[in-house]
Amino acid sequence: MGAYPQTMYFVGLNEPVGQEVSLKGLTVEGTLPPEVRGSFYRAVPDPAFPPKFENDHTLSGDGMVSRLSFNADGTADYAIRFVETARYLAEQAAGEARFGRYRNPFTDDADMAGVDRTVANTTPVWHAGRLLMTKEDGRPYRVDPKTLDTLGSYDFGGALKSETMTAHVRIDPATKELFFYGYEADGLASKTVSYCVVGPDGALKSEQWFDAPYCAMMHDFTISENYALFPIYPTTADLERLKAGGEHWHHEPELDSWLGVMPRYGDVSELRWFKGPKGVHSYHMMNAWEDETGLLHFDACLNSTNAFAFIREPSGIHIQPWEMQGALTRWTVDPKADGGEVQESVIGPPGDFPVIPAASQGRPYTHGWMLTMNPELQGPPLAGGPVGAMFNLLLRLDMRGGPPQALALPPMAGFNEPVHVPATDPAHEGWLVTIVDQQIGDNAFLHQAWVLDAANIAAGPVAKVTIPHRLRPQVHGWWVPQAQLDSAA
Ligand SMILES: [Fe+2]
Repeated sequence: MGAYPQTMYFVGLNEPVGQEVSLKGLTVEGTLPPEVRGSFYRAVPDPAFPPKFENDHTLSGDGMVSRLSFNADGTADYAIRFVETARYLAEQAAGEARFGRYRNPFTDDADMAGVDRTVANTTPVWHAGRLLMTKEDGRPYRVDPKTLDTLGSYDFGGALKSETMTAHVRIDPATKELFFYGYEADGLASKTVSYCVVGPDGALKSEQWFDAPYCAMMHDFTISENYALFPIYPTTADLERLKAGGEHWHHEPELDSWLGVMPRYGDVSELRWFKGPKGVHSYHMMNAWEDETGLLHFDACLNSTNAFAFIREPSGIHIQPWEMQGALTRWTVDPKADGGEVQESVIGPPGDFPVIPAASQGRPYTHGWMLTMNPELQGPPLAGGPVGAMFNLLLRLDMRGGPPQALALPPMAGFNEPVHVPATDPAHEGWLVTIVDQQIGDNAFLHQAWVLDAANIAAGPVAKVTIPHRLRPQVHGWWVPQAQLDSAA
């Protein structure tokens, strides 16, 4: 067995950990709000074996599901386990990596043909009492929320036809329906996209397929009260390139971006395409909503190119991370028009990992949170995560135009994406829970969960839990209140 590559994707904070642990009775410092009672699930990529290819990166790592539980007695428990995907089990049996490049099955060991190669490492999704570990290149794996045991690949009881499901689902706060899509729904580099609606009981109510303008990385989407919105940015896949052993994704700056809009309970034949700027890219959207005049607003963390070096470089785009332009950007369209162009306006700073209260999903909203880089920080950011640098500034944005509020970390510290925990009093903005990583020595790190008052993040954490175990950066997380865990059990 070889060693892990000594690249930014495998050293320092990104060094593989791969240990399954269960730690009970951790001390909570400070005052834990009574509403922060439940479990914070996180998806953590962590390769169980050194990759077959030296230029592999973080997002290929086997999915681990992590749970931080806030207990009734005021303590916290921490546990992390591998998601036992078909790929993970095949590699465990062999004692080495059997699957090749990121999302290219033509580079796998020949006898792995046909084995599900998703790593379920992107978002833990909770809906209808089920916990699903998702990654957009395959179907999710269902995991026991208590034991973190893997229960197997999940296809909504045999109902799902799509070969893929996004890691970025949307849940309507009023109907409790789950809306999702899957791109490359019928095979590698295909333009086919599935669009699915799941009832509050977890039953798949509808699945429709449509063609995107081209095969794009569709990482996230949004719903509003009446519409489903599908953004298309020109990070594209090509079957011939894959067959030749190349990368799944290249970014094509000369291609147009698009926003597909349809009534969310409509037929895909009603989908209308609105053209956006060439070459832009966004991983995550904050929200979409309709104003009183009927216009539809789509708020995304937009960048001038793809944020990942492992996609830019093979595409021939050689820029430094700090040369990338970005902003929280609004695209406005008239959803009743027969297509056209988006109207673009900048509504916030550059950054990523936007968070809103679940109750604001698809509705006009007053505030949201996101991560960014502190322009005033004296000293380097903490290296780590898929981009290579951890965000070190948490923002609370007033969507009505008021000044933002910020919480800055010291040099060599970084935020993982927070989750929002609603408060019982609807007038209270609730709480944020986030993992903060801080380098405290040569390859030594302090990992803490911070609980913040969502309306007053600048005051710093109201409670903290130190996790006495090495943590690799997460991708996304999900908060599940204890009452929902209890009723699911
Ligand atoms: Fe994401």
